[in-house]
Amino acid sequence: MHFFEYQDHQLHCEGVPVEAIAEKVGTPFYLYSYHTLVRHFTVFDKAFDGIPHLVCYSAKANSNLALLRLFVNLGGGVDIVSGGELYRALQAGADPQKIVFSGVGKRPDEIEYGLRAGILMFNVESSQELQALDEVAGRIGKKASISIRVNPDIDPKTHPYISTGLKQNKFGIDILRAPMAYRMATQLPNLKIVGIDCHIGSQLIEVEPVIEALRKLKRLVEDLRKEGIEIRYLDLGGGLGITYEDEEPPHPTDYAASILEEIKGFGCTLILEPGRVIVGNAGILVSKVLYMKENEEKQFVIVDAGMNDLVRPSYYGSYHQILPVKEEAREEIVADVVGPICESSDFLAKGRRMPKVKPGELIAVMSAGAYGFSMSTNYNSRPRVAEVMVRDDQMYVIRRREGYEDLIRGEEIPEFLL
Ligand code: LLP
Repeated sequence: MHFFEYQDHQLHCEGVPVEAIAEKVGTPFYLYSYHTLVRHFTVFDKAFDGIPHLVCYSAKANSNLALLRLFVNLGGGVDIVSGGELYRALQAGADPQKIVFSGVGKRPDEIEYGLRAGILMFNVESSQELQALDEVAGRIGKKASISIRVNPDIDPKTHPYISTGLKQNKFGIDILRAPMAYRMATQLPNLKIVGIDCHIGSQLIEVEPVIEALRKLKRLVEDLRKEGIEIRYLDLGGGLGITYEDEEPPHPTDYAASILEEIKGFGCTLILEPGRVIVGNAGILVSKVLYMKENEEKQFVIVDAGMNDLVRPSYYGSYHQILPVKEEAREEIVADVVGPICESSDFLAKGRRMPKVKPGELIAVMSAGAYGFSMSTNYNSRPRVAEVMVRDDQMYVIRRREGYEDLIRGEEIPEFLL
């Protein structure tokens, strides 16, 4: 459930008409509903109430400081994958003891940053990374708390670009080699083993692959216990899907119930790293129709948001519902909704049956809260768009629109060219 609805034939975010926001901040912009964010986080978190657990929101889905702060206020931790995300999490006031650091390519400086901040654990993805962690920790006189990210070789049945737990993927340590990695970690003086981790993929529509992964992890933890290696945290990653079109992912409560049934009494604190399910349907991208054109074959709706603002349709062929901000009886058309970028892959929708819109009017690209702004770029020298949060009948700009000067920040023309 979310709070984007027509009231008096005008799309609203909570109590504010989308059009009124467009008048204030211009287009395009991302728009988030505070109450939807709170509701999604709370429902997810409460669903795991039966056992000790920690919800580490996956910052990559949407790393705006205001959103991070909101989840921190609700008791959440943060799942990070870079020094930059660590910086954001700390700026947002996250408790370092609720931060987990994932990712296959952590640099020594990022490891050092995490160690000095005192994060809960590093989810380690290779034996060389174990060595790097031990080295950096030794150099600065710290102990690195680690978990091993295990690749359980399970097909999550999702888009190949966002499936991560198969042998062919670069993520984690093969489950058969994981015991060796743990043994190696026991030999490295500056490491402290605290957990086990996996993340099999994103936009998961079925819970079975997650349960299958959990069973494999449990078996491994039991084997490790026999060797005297204690595992305190079991991190199941993120991945729960949402409805973009007609997908029917499990409700967080059912997802949690299946997991709880499997893990209750196992003696580990459960960590979860949800991203999309918390923020995906809590945000939309608002854009203005610039032009319409047609040829013998096709109709095009040309809008002022492009693939640099929302790359998901171009990159994964993702479906995002597109609604006119003004609700009225209209003819239907079948059109490609395209942006201003100089690439044929610059589209928000292809061959879409949709209400006929007019130049100058606003459209809402729905379910854009996750991997929307966070994947946006300056391609074609387009300033990144504004982000707005609405709470009840108030709007707050939580990231101002970039200006042209932001585009060249840090660039320099060497003297010999002057
Ligand atoms: N934990 C780890 C280690 C991850 O790699 C990810 C996502 C998550 C948690 C959060 O997954 P979520 O709950 O959001 O599914 N850009 C793609 C999605 C990439 C997901 C990458 N990893 C998209 O737009 O669909």
